[in-house]
Formats: sequence, C-alpha cells, structure tokens
Amino acid sequence: MLAAIMSSTSRRPPFSLLLLVAVSCAAAAAVPESTARSVRRANRHGPFLGVVVPNAFEMEPLLRSPSFSPPAKGLPPYLDVAGRRFRFGAIGQHKVVVVMTGLGMLNSGVTTQLLLTLFDVKGVVHLGIAGNADPDRQIGDVAVPRYWAHTGLWNWQRYGDGPDSELALESSGDYTRRLGSLNFTDFIVGADGRPDPAAAAAGNLLNAVWYQPEEVFPATTEGGGAPESRAHAFWAPVDARYYELSRELEVEGRLRLERCAGSGNGTCLPRPPVVARVERGCSASVFVDNAAYREFLRSRFGVTAVDMETAAVALVALQQGAPFIAVRALSDLAGGGAAGSNEAGVFAPLAARNAAAVAVELISLIP
Ligand SMILES: *[C@@H]1O[C@H](CO)[C@@H](O)[C@H](O)[C@H]1NC(C)=O
Ligand SMILES: *[C@@H]1O[C@H](CO)[C@@H](O)[C@H](O)[C@H]1NC(C)=O
Repeated sequence: MLAAIMSSTSRRPPFSLLLLVAVSCAAAAAVPESTARSVRRANRHGPFLGVVVPNAFEMEPLLRSPSFSPPAKGLPPYLDVAGRRFRFGAIGQHKVVVVMTGLGMLNSGVTTQLLLTLFDVKGVVHLGIAGNADPDRQIGDVAVPRYWAHTGLWNWQRYGDGPDSELALESSGDYTRRLGSLNFTDFIVGADGRPDPAAAAAGNLLNAVWYQPEEVFPATTEGGGAPESRAHAFWAPVDARYYELSRELEVEGRLRLERCAGSGNGTCLPRPPVVARVERGCSASVFVDNAAYREFLRSRFGVTAVDMETAAVALVALQQGAPFIAVRALSDLAGGGAAGSNEAGVFAPLAARNAAAVAVELISLIP
C-alpha cells in the first residue's frame, strides 16, 4: 500500500511521514530497528528508480556498466533486508536501487513488493533474458513488450468435460473460460512423430487447462477504495509514458548491441541484434524448452518474450500504482530451435549484456 503512496511524488511530504511511521512500526517485526533507521536515512535521498533483476548473471553487466555510478554521498552501497540486497547507485540523472529477486514468480513478486514498501520509488525498470516465441525476432534482440501476462494460473478441467462445460467454481466468478485453454489431446503424437488426430479422438486423461487472470488487490487510494476488494488482471500494461520513451531505443544506430557470443568464434548471430517494442510477453514459474508449448503461447496469446518473472513484477507494480517497464533480451527459442539443445547455454551472457545496455539507455531517457 505504501508503494502507491511513495510513487506519487506530488503527494510526497505528508506520506514520507507516513512511511516513517510505517517503517518504525515494522521495526519490531521483519525489519530490525537499525535497518529501519537506515531505510529512513536512505529515503531522504529519494525518490529512486527501482531496478529489478532476476539473477546475478543478469545483474552483473548492469553493475559493471560505465553508466552505473556509485551512490550519492550519504547513501550506503547497499542495505540488506529480508534476504535481499538493495544496492544504491546512479544511472544518468537518476538515483537507483538495484535488487536481485531470484528465480520465478514468487521471488520476483515478493522482492518487488519489498522494494516498493521500503523505499521511495518513483518507477520500476525490470530487465533480464527471455525465451523467444516470435518468428519475427532473433536471439540477441531486446524485446520491450507493452503488456505482460502471468500464464501459470490455471483451472485444470476434469476428463470428460468439453469446451462448453462450466468450470469448477466458474459460476462464483473465481474462474473463467474467457482466456482459452490448452487441450492436451491436441498434442498426442503418432508413430511417425507427428500429431495424430485419430489417436486424439480418444481424448486424453489430462483433458485441458484453462488460463486464468490474476486476482489483484489494487492499493487503496487516499481515503477511498476498499481493501480486499478483488479485481482481475490478465494483461498488465507497462507504463504508457515509459513505453513511449522506449520508442527512441529502436532508432537505428542509437545502441550497438553485441552480436557474437564468447570471442566471436563462429557463434555470431546472423544479423546485429536490435531493440524491438512488441505487444506482449508472458511469465510463469516454468522454464519453457518445448517447441509445441512455445507455438501454443505464440498462437494463443501473441507473445514474444517468455520468461519466469516479469509478469509478477508487473502485477505488483500495477497494484501498487508504480510506473513500470521491462526489457527482456531474447537468449533462446524456448525449445523452438533446430539445434539439439537450448541456445541459452551459448547466448545467455550476450543477452544479459544486451539487456543491461538497453535498460541503462532507457533509464537515461526517463526524465
Ligand atoms: C479436448 O479435446 C478432446 C478431443 O478432441 C475433446 O473430446 C474434449 O472435449 C476437449 N476438451 C476441451 C476442454 O476442449
Ligand atoms: C565459441 O566460444 C564459446 C564461448 O567461449 C564456447 O562456449 C563455444 O563452444 C565456442 N563455439 C565454437 C563453435 O567453437
């Protein structure tokens, strides 16, 4: 709840007081008093841009970037809270707090909430690598999607029910068939290794899973709105202003992205990577290395980037009213490549460096 408050710079004076109170109250619990004092001191230097990164190999290129400078005088290099390290620094004209979440939706959601609760954050920039489900994009390209969905929340339908059968608890509004389903029968393979419609007619005990929107609880605005009043969100939009600014990143020649993995020994990409603003990305706590599922995600949801964290960061930012955008560099084809193994083994470091280069440039564009 504090985050929405903190992100509203126009209302800062009364609410920084509120933060003081809240942080003091929290002191006896998760945040020790000495840490709470450090947080208060740090916030006097705010507001910050929050930079949220999944893993160390995606964060290192950012911290090593010549555009990342040490924190302003009076700020420590970092504060450790609840198992996370919040690193202070500056990128361009912005003071930043950089935090690593760890893998998956739970880690990224919890860490983003912690960031927004503790610190005076005016916006969140997320970066990392992703699988690519978009035939128009190549490995190494950096995608900036306009919408993000969590595609790991399902209603798994019982065998024997069909597309017209109501889902369990659908009538109470908990679940919906609006977003469509994945029917396991469609993926049965015959002796020739291809989908087998004849075998499919017999059905599949796994039947189908139906995609569900996230239940969200938007932070109450000053004096209004009721806590625990449920809403639903599937496509979480990025901040419209940040998205507009990211248009500049597509300008040819503005950014020189890396093309060769390692020392350029034959693992070079067919063309120099580019930044591409795209419509959609999706996330779930699932590593996708499967061509059929990749194609399903593309045809059902029109996604480019497939990853394991961004939608959680987006959904927390959305509920807390914090402006948010994500850049994800494509490291592999999510199982759709011709090679025998996932391309991320070779291209993940290159993608991580490209993601950092684009994130730094994007941050410098934010006024
Ligand atoms: C899944 O496909 C099978 C075979 O076509 C069909 O019998 C079943 O009704 C389908 N289930 C759903 C939920 O669409
Ligand atoms: C190229 O270099 C990378 C990184 O040093 C290495 O992992 C890869 O195996 C090399 N590829 C070839 C074809 O030699």
